[in-house]
Amino acid sequence: MAAYDVTVIGSGPGGYVAAIRCAQLGLKTAVVEKWPTFGGTCLNVGCIPSKALLHASELYEEAGHGFADMGIAVEPKLDVAKMLAFKDEGVAGNVKGVDFLFKKNKIDTFRGTGSIAGQGKVKVTAEDGSVQEIETRNTIIASGSDVARLPGVEIDEKRVVSSTGALTLDQVPGKMVVIGGGVIGLELGSVWRRLGAEVTVVEFLDKILPPEDNEVSKQFQRILGKQGFKFKLSSKVTGVDTSGKTLKVSVEPAKGGDTETIEADVVLVAIGRVPYTKGLGLEEAGIAMDERGRIKTDDHYRTNVPGVWAIGDVITGPMLAHKAEDEGVACAELIAGQKPHVNYEAIPSVVYTYPEVASVGRTEEQLKKDGVAYNVGKFPFTANGRAKVNRTTDGFVKILADKTTDRVLGVHIVGPDAGTMIGEVTLGMEFGAAAEDIARTCHAHPTLSEAIKEAALAVANRAIHM
Ligand code: FAD
Ligand code: NAI
Repeated sequence: MAAYDVTVIGSGPGGYVAAIRCAQLGLKTAVVEKWPTFGGTCLNVGCIPSKALLHASELYEEAGHGFADMGIAVEPKLDVAKMLAFKDEGVAGNVKGVDFLFKKNKIDTFRGTGSIAGQGKVKVTAEDGSVQEIETRNTIIASGSDVARLPGVEIDEKRVVSSTGALTLDQVPGKMVVIGGGVIGLELGSVWRRLGAEVTVVEFLDKILPPEDNEVSKQFQRILGKQGFKFKLSSKVTGVDTSGKTLKVSVEPAKGGDTETIEADVVLVAIGRVPYTKGLGLEEAGIAMDERGRIKTDDHYRTNVPGVWAIGDVITGPMLAHKAEDEGVACAELIAGQKPHVNYEAIPSVVYTYPEVASVGRTEEQLKKDGVAYNVGKFPFTANGRAKVNRTTDGFVKILADKTTDRVLGVHIVGPDAGTMIGEVTLGMEFGAAAEDIARTCHAHPTLSEAIKEAALAVANRAIHM
């Protein structure tokens, strides 16, 4: 008999949640993690540290500008070392939490690189080279993702950084060039801009946040522009000269043309992430991967090798912590013989800038492409009482509903607390809500969420405050 029912490789949001759910279901469970702390990218170098710095830098900027308008006179003084310590404490608290949950659920943990070592076996190679073999009925691979590299631009994590280095800069760069106008570029670009850097974003495509609705991208770019962000769209970085004290970034039009040089103290490479499969022994085990290096699974997270499952960033779909978590739960329940389901039509996505950008479901562009007839309801925060009094009026709510059935197909919010507000419409979509259902739901006054109700009313052309 195998020692374990399930062995999970990787302790990120996918892996640790899968392990806990397995244990709850009575399965004897082990976790293999090669990093010194649990929690994966998200807790150690992703979601959690970036949100700590976004929170602190937002308050710093507000104290410098917004407070005075409210009659609060303060002169904020920046202590970067202390801000980084604040972030590190937050990370430590979170990773310790995972440790606690493993113990509470009687999950065994192994330190080292896990690899598939034949039918029902996982090999764990510790940093000192010692090897252990685990016998297991099932293996869940939750090895996550890694930074995508740009050919010709070498990341040293000091002056040319990935998100990981951008979370530990010990002083504010005078000038920062961000390669990639996606989530990481805009979140971490916001952190350092708020703290005093002049930030230029170089984006290959003709819009920032490419997966978002075009109207969202456009308006959000305007808002960030007012905050001081500079953008070079439809442009590509062809090299970074690191020989001098100041970095020289070569930029040319995406379609080719004259090269321009931009000077920078720090360059942040944020052009996406790639699945991480190094050291797993996938080829030897015969586990199939797709053309983008992701582990191939069926709709139930099964790889082509019996007893080996995969979830999270290492498989297809959005690289988001909550997507990995929901797959972790579903995979555990499938192993236990249950019939769970993850609804990929209702996975919210949030950019934690100021204002936040949050969306769920399809964009207008996708609906047009899919040939779906729809109605649009839009409501700006300039017409929301709470936003007005708080002077946080940048942004809007946009609801897309099926023209015939009124069913909500997509919701897009640019605005303060958009990330919290997207929860209500995600729940609505899970229950198959019509825009009319949201419009007839009583929303507390005065709250920002009234903008959602008004946008739902606007779908039927009857918004009250506009
Ligand atoms: P990971 O979290 O990457 O965990 C994989 C784990 O597996 C790691 O601990 C790794 O060490 C371990 N591992 C890999 N191979 C092996 C092996 N062979 N043996 C043993 N261990 C192994 N998502 C959000 O939803 N919200 C956010 O706000 C957000 N912010 C982010 C900010 C940044 C800067 C970054 C980089 C990412 C952010 N993400 C965010 C994305 C999020 O971090 C990922 O989607 C999520 O961590 C994926 O979870 P996972 O479990 O699939 O993999
Ligand atoms: P991203 O995919 O969000 O954005 C990358 C951007 O770089 C895109 O706009 C792309 O067009 C552009 N790009 C690609 N190649 C380029 C080039 N050569 N030159 C210029 N621009 C180029 O990837 P990002 O920002 O690196 O983040 C990786 C992933 O991490 C995200 O997709 C997301 O899944 C996750 N993440 C999620 C967060 C959240 O949920 N709040 C926060 C941070 C990361």
